[in-house]
Amino acid sequence: MNNKKNLNEQNLADSLRSQGISRRSFLKFCAATASMMALPPSMIPAIASALEQAKRPSVIWLSFQECTGCTESLTRAHTATIENLIFDSISLDYHHTLQAASGDAAEAAREEAMRENWGKYLLVVDGSIPTLDMGYSTIAGMSNLDMFLETAAGAAAIISVGTCAAFGGIPHAHPNPTGAYSVYDIIKRYGSSGTDGVSAASIKHNSAGSVADKPIITVPGCPPIPVVITGVLTHYLTFGMIPELDHLGRPKAFYGQSIHDRCYRRPFYDKGLFAETFDDEGAKKGWCLYKLGCKGPTTYNACATTKWNNGTSFPIESGHPCLGCSEPHFWDGGSFYKALSMPTEDLSKTAIYTAAGAAAVGVALGALNSSKKSTAVAEHTKTTIDDLEK
Ligand code: SF4
Ligand code: SF4
Ligand code: F3S
Repeated sequence: MNNKKNLNEQNLADSLRSQGISRRSFLKFCAATASMMALPPSMIPAIASALEQAKRPSVIWLSFQECTGCTESLTRAHTATIENLIFDSISLDYHHTLQAASGDAAEAAREEAMRENWGKYLLVVDGSIPTLDMGYSTIAGMSNLDMFLETAAGAAAIISVGTCAAFGGIPHAHPNPTGAYSVYDIIKRYGSSGTDGVSAASIKHNSAGSVADKPIITVPGCPPIPVVITGVLTHYLTFGMIPELDHLGRPKAFYGQSIHDRCYRRPFYDKGLFAETFDDEGAKKGWCLYKLGCKGPTTYNACATTKWNNGTSFPIESGHPCLGCSEPHFWDGGSFYKALSMPTEDLSKTAIYTAAGAAAVGVALGALNSSKKSTAVAEHTKTTIDDLEK
């Protein structure tokens, strides 16, 4: 226990030093962090100073209706990366999958972390929360809903990791047999008033402000990119506040642009050059995957820039369309392999006409598509083939 207290009193610089990180590596890490959070290089000294003094925050991680993919994503790094440096530097007081303790000891660890850090700990949630029958998912005899509301009551902020926690994800997909909801929807439904299914205790000892008022950061993706999860933690450690969010609660630094905005295959899209099958000449030449169902134009995530596995690649780079896994209802959005958004058969014909000299036709249709796309981007709605054909 004393050891744990000592660890919790360590600041982040102590923690990194104890992992053998030199000052030089620490500053390199701060530079990478600034770049990851889209901050100017002039912010590097401020980040270094803030991180050096930051206390290791207590983090309670609850996993509900999920597949463990989100935790796997974060813990799969094989080398010393920003994500595992940061992850090792937090005080992860409770995590169903990673903790050594089990049974009563595990639950006692959660209660102790809550007691000792009431109002200050971060609550990370992966998985959605069932509401139809509390028996669908319980932990230590407690319903997911009860455990979530009880733990959320003392949290400084809640981070919904993965599309299941952020938007309901696969458990929420039609016909949603468990009545699964996202963290945000649960807070909206039960955060202030409670429900028959929720014990009064969950709401009662809420002295850290209303559950309904808790800041929620959504970090969607199925699973989310590890560096994005730790980027959010780093921002909190550095600035002591949550990052700037979009209207769906996603950090703008990572979700401000669509996959399509930053996709390296974009020049082929703009020229109307599309792979028609997974093994045709277009696919071999790396043409745009739109016709194979790519949802990049309506999907907001950082895959095209941060990539996966230490910047190795991302789905489109390995030849597969983006499935839109970081968007609400991506599972119910129609076939993964059917084009839903931008051009139609006619656009590729238009490109041929353009090449043949009918430039005006191509430019006009391109401008129409581009203007519809801009509207869709601005309003962040899906543009369908039907919309474009109107
Ligand atoms: Fe699994 Fe995807 Fe849900 Fe994460 S978001 S728990 S990876 S299904
Ligand atoms: Fe890239 Fe997909 Fe956009 Fe084509 S449609 S440019 S593959 S994001
Ligand atoms: Fe998901 Fe699309 Fe990235 S499927 S992993 S958001 S490229």
